[in-house]
Amino acid sequence: MRNSSRSQVDPFIVMDVMEAARRAESEGRRIIHMEVGQPGTGAPRGAIDALEGRLREDPLGYTVALGLPALRARIARLYGEWYDVDLNPERVIVTSGSSGAFLLAFTALFDSGDRVGIGAPGYPSYRQILKSLGLVPVDLPTAAENRYQPVPADFADMDLAGLMVASPANPTGTMLDHAAMSALIGAAREQDASFISDEIYHGLEYEAKAVTALELSDDVYVINSFSKYFSMTGWRVGWMVVPEDHVRVIERIAQNMFICPPHASQVAALASMDCEAETQANLEVYRTNRALMLEGLPKAGFTRIAPPDGAFYVYADVSDLTDDSRAFAAEILDKAGVAVTPGLDFDPERGGGTLRFSYARSTADIEEGLERLAAFMAARAG
Ligand SMILES: Cc1ncc(COP(=O)(O)O)c(C=O)c1O
Repeated sequence: MRNSSRSQVDPFIVMDVMEAARRAESEGRRIIHMEVGQPGTGAPRGAIDALEGRLREDPLGYTVALGLPALRARIARLYGEWYDVDLNPERVIVTSGSSGAFLLAFTALFDSGDRVGIGAPGYPSYRQILKSLGLVPVDLPTAAENRYQPVPADFADMDLAGLMVASPANPTGTMLDHAAMSALIGAAREQDASFISDEIYHGLEYEAKAVTALELSDDVYVINSFSKYFSMTGWRVGWMVVPEDHVRVIERIAQNMFICPPHASQVAALASMDCEAETQANLEVYRTNRALMLEGLPKAGFTRIAPPDGAFYVYADVSDLTDDSRAFAAEILDKAGVAVTPGLDFDPERGGGTLRFSYARSTADIEEGLERLAAFMAARAG
């Protein structure tokens, strides 16, 4: 049986690193995980308690396609709490993670063959999901001096139907401030391109508060998730905010594609939003880890890094050390026992010379990982 051409998407290279790390662990080695893009912590305690109670009394059948009304209302309230934005809960759509939101957004906004701009480096799945929907991802190579975020000049006259941004971004952790976000929204509008803002790392910010596109315009799609700040990756629950006149369009697609997001996860997600003491404590661990990374990586010899404003990653330019980040990551795993992600996942053109280090795990692991990296680099320098 033949496969469609749009199904020919690329694998996640980091999965190969994870598999190699798993093999090393099964042989008895202790590996420090700086490749993972998820919190080491589980869902907040209050989320689990709330679900435990509900499991006994509720068959947890389908919910309505747009999600539990109480959860949509609570998410709308979060926009008041975090950004002082008054948001109509009707505009909030609960999704199966932000990944489910991408499918809904791309399907609702674009027709086959439409061109959608994405910053490079960027989260790899944007490109692959767009391809699998018969859309054309257009990589916008970003510059170190723009802190690896796109600027309007990067997509002038590119005939885009959409522009996708992420702030804080994966893999760099850099953010768009009000002026930068506003310039991008304006430039997209001039091309009649729909603007999608991936805000999955909001809440995980260290210097300034992240800006939501909803502070600047109602004519945008905003995507977020319970995976990162709320530490609920495996629960597969996220959300999207869309213009009022798009809600019914999305509702019809969501009914058919997903019926509804996982009911149990919605119950837990709602409770997680009132577990601030725990989610803020997680943030403090990342803050400590970030400081250790910003001191330890340059000391170890990874000097060309973009200081991250948020998320839990550091992106390093290692082009002075290698042009094959995949082989370099394999060498680091083999000799230092530290798993890191080759930049090729995020930037097919230039990622041969970059690595992503995650600091989402415990502080003790980060300390040990940095010591190992320093010893590895010292031995390599001879
Ligand atoms: C920038 C970005 N967006 C979206 C996702 C997908 O997250 P989820 O589907 O778990 O919400 C990730 C996962 O790492 C990510 O880094």
